[in-house]
Amino acid sequence: MSKKVYITDTILRDAHQSQAATRMRIEDMLPACKALNDAGYWSLECWGGATFDSCMRFLKEDPWERLRILKKNLPDTKLQMLLRGQNLLGYKHYADDVVDMFIKKSIKNGIDVIRIFDALNDTRNMEAAINSTKKHGGIVEAAISYTVSPVHSEEYFVDLAVKLENMGADTICIKDMANLLLPYDAYSLVKALKKKVKVPLHIHTHNTTGTGEMTYLMAIQAGVDIIDTALSPMANGTAQPSTEAMIATLRGTEYDTGIDLKNLTGPATHFRNIAAKLKEEGFLDPKVLNVDPNTLIYQVPGGMLSNLISQLKQAKAEDKYYDVLEEIPRVRKDFGYPPLVTPTSQIVGSQAVLNVLSGERYKMATKESKGVLRGEYGQLPGEINEEVRTKVLGENADIITCRPADLIEPEFEKYRQATKGLANNDEDVLSYALFPQVAEKFLTERNYGSKLDEVSTQKVRELFIEDLS
Ligand code: CO
Repeated sequence: MSKKVYITDTILRDAHQSQAATRMRIEDMLPACKALNDAGYWSLECWGGATFDSCMRFLKEDPWERLRILKKNLPDTKLQMLLRGQNLLGYKHYADDVVDMFIKKSIKNGIDVIRIFDALNDTRNMEAAINSTKKHGGIVEAAISYTVSPVHSEEYFVDLAVKLENMGADTICIKDMANLLLPYDAYSLVKALKKKVKVPLHIHTHNTTGTGEMTYLMAIQAGVDIIDTALSPMANGTAQPSTEAMIATLRGTEYDTGIDLKNLTGPATHFRNIAAKLKEEGFLDPKVLNVDPNTLIYQVPGGMLSNLISQLKQAKAEDKYYDVLEEIPRVRKDFGYPPLVTPTSQIVGSQAVLNVLSGERYKMATKESKGVLRGEYGQLPGEINEEVRTKVLGENADIITCRPADLIEPEFEKYRQATKGLANNDEDVLSYALFPQVAEKFLTERNYGSKLDEVSTQKVRELFIEDLS
């Protein structure tokens, strides 16, 4: 039996998101598309994550147009996107009708595979996205957000994967966003999953802690089916292990990927030039390639540590770094051990900073911390510290225990009304629903010329847009 390993290349999404602030443009991608299309990948991750926001905010590109162009130039390889369940690509829960419309349009404009995850692994936050993806003919890749904590046992992840398979997942992904999954644990986890899950298993990690390829190799030996890698010019460090290194490692073995390395030298040469350009523009800092031992020691994602340092710098409290580093696991425990991924990593990090700087734990709490404790983000994996909950929310606070999106009325029409005169189609309405300020500016400039300043942007709005408030 062939144990061929399949490859998803992330050069068009996660690689430049992780290494170069998501600044790769469509014209940086196009010259390599023919070769990428013919290479023999299982899929190309090319959309979703932070690319949507970055397109409009920094690159003056319509994300939907980018997707259509990619589809046209990559007709024979599945296009893959990353989607944060009920949050879509934004930071709050959307109503089910917006989730459905977004997925319908993503698939219609070219997406084949949607990797769906939830920061808390609350499957109720993934339900609507999974159902819509199936309804509109897409491939559902349901992801487990991997983390390390006393409640995140191997059994927990296996149960979660079985649940996701029963919900209709076509593939299951182990999403290790912080490179916390160590090689032997990966072997053991994949073995355990393979016993209980029938659909193909996909693994996603980064090389932040320098263990990425070893984790992949052990996962492959345990039977993983698909791995996420990035073409060499933007591989490793905070991005994925390199495609070429993995292909070469597996060549001639029972796991052979069937991909000819020679066919990748063209696109690699091209992206080396793009990487050099991004470095010159200041978006790609070679420091991203450094091995991050703090993540190995504290089990805190690398990106979270750099946020922490800049928060403490702003507060002129750099000397409190190690105090905060020790407070993070305590806050995480109080909050019921959420995986540390956007947005929970920022929420736990900020609360830890507040607890240390104010001199009294939970004397102050952020709006987001209150939201987590109130259940707005969904069910926490472990027990919440009730003393902390009472201190932050007061006695007898209303706690949400239902699926959070059940509390949101249909809202697509509201967004359609809010974008009258600005949106040319439902895709534009969705851009606005996800990033209102950014999309408003982008769509106004696109429709009425790029010379508009802030004042005239406001005038256009007054002319064309009904105020709904
Ligand atoms: Co990633």
